[in-house]
Amino acid sequence: MKVYMDNGATTQVDPRVLKAMLPYFKEKYGNASSLHTKGQEAKGALEESREIIAKLINAEPEEIIFTSGGTEADNLAIYGTYKNLVITSAIEHPAVLNVCKELNHKIIKVDKFGIVNLKELEDSVEKDSLVTIMFANNEIGAIQPIKEISKICKAKDAIFHTDAVQAFGKIPINVKALGIDLMSLSSHKIYGPKGVGALYIKKGIRLKPIFRGGGHEFKIRSGTENIPGIVGFAKAAELAVKEMKKDNMKLIKMRDELIKGLTKIPNTRLNGHPKNRLPNNVNVAFDFIEGEGLVLHLDSKGICASTGSACSSTKLEPSHILTAIGLRPEQAHGSLRLTLGRFNTMKEVDYVLKVVPTMVEKLRKISPLVE
Ligand SMILES: Cc1ncc(COP(=O)(O)O)c(C=O)c1O
Repeated sequence: MKVYMDNGATTQVDPRVLKAMLPYFKEKYGNASSLHTKGQEAKGALEESREIIAKLINAEPEEIIFTSGGTEADNLAIYGTYKNLVITSAIEHPAVLNVCKELNHKIIKVDKFGIVNLKELEDSVEKDSLVTIMFANNEIGAIQPIKEISKICKAKDAIFHTDAVQAFGKIPINVKALGIDLMSLSSHKIYGPKGVGALYIKKGIRLKPIFRGGGHEFKIRSGTENIPGIVGFAKAAELAVKEMKKDNMKLIKMRDELIKGLTKIPNTRLNGHPKNRLPNNVNVAFDFIEGEGLVLHLDSKGICASTGSACSSTKLEPSHILTAIGLRPEQAHGSLRLTLGRFNTMKEVDYVLKVVPTMVEKLRKISPLVE
């Protein structure tokens, strides 16, 4: 059996998305800046896609800037609006954290479930500072109190950016109601193509571009627009929001079944919040297990999963997210992340629940970590 449960890393392009994209590779290949019919056809698709994305988050079309993905949107938001101080959380994606580390920054702690400490945030925010805190976490699925964070920012005249790459399409998002100033989105986490995303920029927020060029995207992001990608992103976003309720019901059922089954394994704990987590996220830590070894063994059984332990060339670094929620490095190394998606089935969940406990038992028998 082949089981793909790494949808937090990326997703399969939905066949309906691919169908919407294909004409823009073939007959509708114009450059949206060209004056002729082919160019205007591409321009029409670009503006229609902008309207679709805007409407889904309750924004205006001119508040949406298309980018090459979540990483670029995060970089653009932070470099583009930074003045004197950027405040972020300890569990951000490297696309945020590594940018902040180049600037005058402060990192806010999270609790054992991965939720930011609002008191520490409130005490740290100053006038004109930029606050960048993710909507939902990629590894443990923790969902942040976005409304409360935006209120703190408003009260101090600070700008609030959120990386919603993992949340968009899985949680309803209304930027106006939530008081968000800037928000990063990515297409490939929601069954759209890779290499395309967007940055929402609230009207009135001044942002310096990163790229110098022909002044595309309202002079904010130069570069010929990726029309097939943008059309696919808009279609994927439309489907994700339209089918969110139905998809989530199924995802939550599978997620909870996996959590129930996996936490029955002795010396195993759930990472992240038991309830306040993304509908598709399962993350557990097995004592005495090396995560990369487990992932490779699962792969040999046809299961694609991931771990918070990433081997760099010289040393095995534990996940900064898992250590931020209080796991010791050796516990963080024993983590397994399963991220469900639209195309997973309960049969696959049953298969995973058959394979993982046996595999963990087998690996523990040969583990040098067992006392
Ligand atoms: C929370 C978060 N932010 C940003 C990114 C980067 O997005 P992209 O792959 O579109 O550059 C990811 C992707 O893993 C993510 O999970």
